[in-house]
Amino acid sequence: MTNPVTPAYAPPERPAQGDILVVEDTPASLQLLTGLLSEAGHRVRPAPDGELALWSARGQPPELILLDIRMPGMDGYEVCRQLKDDARLREVPVIFLSACTDTDDKLRGFAVGGVDFISKPYQFEEVQARVLAHLELARLRQRLAYQNAHLEQLVEAKAEELAQARLSLLGERQLRDLAERESRLRLSEIAHMNRNASATVYCAALVHELNQPLAAIMSNAEAAELFLNMERPALAEVAEILADIRRDDLRASELIQSMRDLLKKSEAVTASLDLNEVVRVAAMLLASEARVRQCALTLALDGPALPVAADRIQLQQVMINLILNGMDAMADLPPGARRLEISAALAGGQAQVLVRDHGAGFTCDLERVFESFFTTKPGGMGLGLSIAAAIVREHGGQIWAGNCPDGGAVVGFRLPREALPEQGAGDAP
Ligand SMILES: Nc1ncnc2c1ncn2[C@@H]1O[C@H](COP(=O)(O)OP(=O)(O)O)[C@@H](O)[C@H]1O
Ligand SMILES: [Mg+2]
Repeated sequence: MTNPVTPAYAPPERPAQGDILVVEDTPASLQLLTGLLSEAGHRVRPAPDGELALWSARGQPPELILLDIRMPGMDGYEVCRQLKDDARLREVPVIFLSACTDTDDKLRGFAVGGVDFISKPYQFEEVQARVLAHLELARLRQRLAYQNAHLEQLVEAKAEELAQARLSLLGERQLRDLAERESRLRLSEIAHMNRNASATVYCAALVHELNQPLAAIMSNAEAAELFLNMERPALAEVAEILADIRRDDLRASELIQSMRDLLKKSEAVTASLDLNEVVRVAAMLLASEARVRQCALTLALDGPALPVAADRIQLQQVMINLILNGMDAMADLPPGARRLEISAALAGGQAQVLVRDHGAGFTCDLERVFESFFTTKPGGMGLGLSIAAAIVREHGGQIWAGNCPDGGAVVGFRLPREALPEQGAGDAP
């Protein structure tokens, strides 16, 4: 991969000696300074007045300027002001040369941007010391500026990298969301197929279950007629009978509704549910199937409610698959021994359901029973357990299967125990 950031760099190393512009109107002084500085190894450009000094500096910015204050024409302050107005020359340090030791003059020099003063007559050691100090300072400042620029570049490149990473993460998340939604849809499809496959069982159950409330409604209606035909109609009894009829009617429509829900094709809807209630309804739907198969269903539901956030239809489907498997497993037993026990309780902080039968237990590899299309039954589809597992896992739970030490199989699952937040008062109705 190419690195978009240029490597850390510093301005080219310069010799300790500098490129110095000396501006001085007195020829003898100019000559003296030029000579001394050149002897010390500096590259020196002499300028006898302000105009020439500016011209030379603009042609090639020096590293340092020694600038006389008192000059005919343009004085040192004005030269300095113009240097500071030029973006390319602004950073070049200016040391004023002056015969005057007046503090006001010095203050004025600093005000226009000078960095130091050297008083005439010159002490060459002092000149050399100040020149070297300011050269080094200027070079350090330049190096710092280079490094800052490099750091900024680095930060910018990192920010760009980060933005790219965030973008690709976003893309990945969108893809994952899409895949998740697809797999949910596929699960809904397969689950619906599986429910349809059990439709005959449900229909038999429905016919059976409806008989009971319908018969009750009929006999209650007949009784009401008798009460009304009496010489003094027993209205209180009739009112009671009507309440009974309403209750039976409600039960019948609940049954029809549950069956409709199971057979309907719908996308999963997560809601706050009581797992005990899901178990109860599933057992109710299969009660007549159990009667036909001469199988005793017992429920042990712990506590008033086991709240879970889940899709009701899908959980019912899990229960129905496990109950049907249990009943299948006991088909060869004498009727009295066909006992299916369903329990629901809190376990390890989660809502747990166990479906236990007294059949021969799992006779195959336990790993395989949750695979799709794995079946040991002649007319089996091999979808019940794989769908149950997919649904439970989709809900963030675990499912397992095993054999009981005293015979029979047990299939259990656990779901996170959680209630969806109540619809707040502020929510739209
Ligand atoms: N309660 C059980 N007792 C014994 N074996 C079982 C039980 N439940 C499931 N199995 C085994 O797991 C297999 C897969 O079950 P399932 O996925 O429901 O498909 P199917 O019931 O159509 O065979 C069954 O064929 C059976 O071998
Ligand atoms: Mg099955």
